[in-house]
Amino acid sequence: MSTQTNHEQAAGPDAAPSTGIQDIAFATGHYSFDLKNLAEKHEIDVNKFYVGIGQETMSIPAEDEDIVTMGAAAAQRIIERNGTDGIRTLLFATESGIDQSKSAGVYVHGLLNLPREIRTIETKMACYGGIGALQMALGIVARNPEEKVLVITSDVARYDVDTSGEPTQGAAAVAFLVQASPDILAIEPAQGVYTTDVQDFWRPNFRNTALVDGKFSVGAYMDALVGAWHDYRAHGGVDFREIDWFCYHQPFTKMAVKAHMRLTKEAGVPLEKPEAAAALEPTFGYNKQLGNSYTASIFLGFLALLDSQKDLEGQRVGFFSYGSGAVAEFFTGVILPGYRQHLRAEEHQAILDAREPIGYDRYRVLHPGTLVQPTDNYRTERQTQAPFRFEGVDEGSRLYR
Ligand code: HMG
Repeated sequence: MSTQTNHEQAAGPDAAPSTGIQDIAFATGHYSFDLKNLAEKHEIDVNKFYVGIGQETMSIPAEDEDIVTMGAAAAQRIIERNGTDGIRTLLFATESGIDQSKSAGVYVHGLLNLPREIRTIETKMACYGGIGALQMALGIVARNPEEKVLVITSDVARYDVDTSGEPTQGAAAVAFLVQASPDILAIEPAQGVYTTDVQDFWRPNFRNTALVDGKFSVGAYMDALVGAWHDYRAHGGVDFREIDWFCYHQPFTKMAVKAHMRLTKEAGVPLEKPEAAAALEPTFGYNKQLGNSYTASIFLGFLALLDSQKDLEGQRVGFFSYGSGAVAEFFTGVILPGYRQHLRAEEHQAILDAREPIGYDRYRVLHPGTLVQPTDNYRTERQTQAPFRFEGVDEGSRLYR
């Protein structure tokens, strides 16, 4: 699919410093649930999941974990390596919000004991919320190049049991640092954006689980891809052939294959399913194991690419983000010389391996059911081994340690 040549960044003595990703790390829930358990329960061929939708296991948070504990665990590692100097903004992207008013990022700010001189907000637009936060971060750094922005994307994807969405559940958080002259990825200026008001997936406030018109959502994703791609090209985006790798939002990895077939057709270089799947395979490793993590999913695709390939220096990555409802964006970035010294592949593998496998009955106990229960006071059992835990609710206030 790709020429995999080195792409020169805007250079020369007067060129503005590049802006992009300095460091990036993920965290996930305590449990893993192999989809063979679900296939056995439903008496269907497991290859419908392993092959048909391209998913193997899903991460499931313990009762004392949520978007805050996962987000804090991912962000803690970014802070340990980079310190807090220069961070004046914390953006927390999620669509599994735990409060209608207070940003989940403020809880993370407290848990990590971050300096007070930071603005902290939550962004929301389904799975697009993470890329929306990234774009805001780039804008802040462009205005004040000495500032850094800590971005956290964290979600728990839940559908009702016994629905077609059930095998696409999952949970994870990705944290990353956006700054000028970064070490991993320089993000290029061209952007293709797209919004349309469709009801393909939504989660009313009284529900733990999302509602989805599954097949319609696949079509809505495709329409948004075509729209964002053409807008990208109309706004200075490079030719398809100049992009070496493609990272899609992966609600299930097969979705990205369908999308890539569509994009290659649109770009006049159509690929059949096996070639499209092979071209994207290096971006699938983590999402196949974690399930849908909504805002974090696209970044996990990028991390899988970084951690699995030997040498990506100078190569251009195309990113497509889709958030149901729907907002989408296509943009590119170039991987920087020396990026490998800043990766965390072993750390990431250890996080996957540390998860505790569970069977169907335990999965059902951990599934919260459809409706949000009005409970102002309760305590959770200690289950997680993660650095932070959700202790329960006291007079409506969430408690973290
Ligand atoms: P389904 O109806 O259960 O699946 O749900 P299916 O019957 O269409 O089968 C899926 C594939 O498995 C098919 O392949 C089958 O042929 C194949 P395809 O035709 O698609 O290439 N298959 C098999 N393959 C091998 N061996 C077998 C076998 N049996 C069947 N034995 C659906 C599919 C996507 C609808 C469902 O999973 C769903 O509702 N998912 C949730 C919605 C979703 O993820 N939508 C994606 C686009 S929307 C989005 O990305 C946004 C989102 O992340 C939310 C947000 O933005 O916040 C969801």
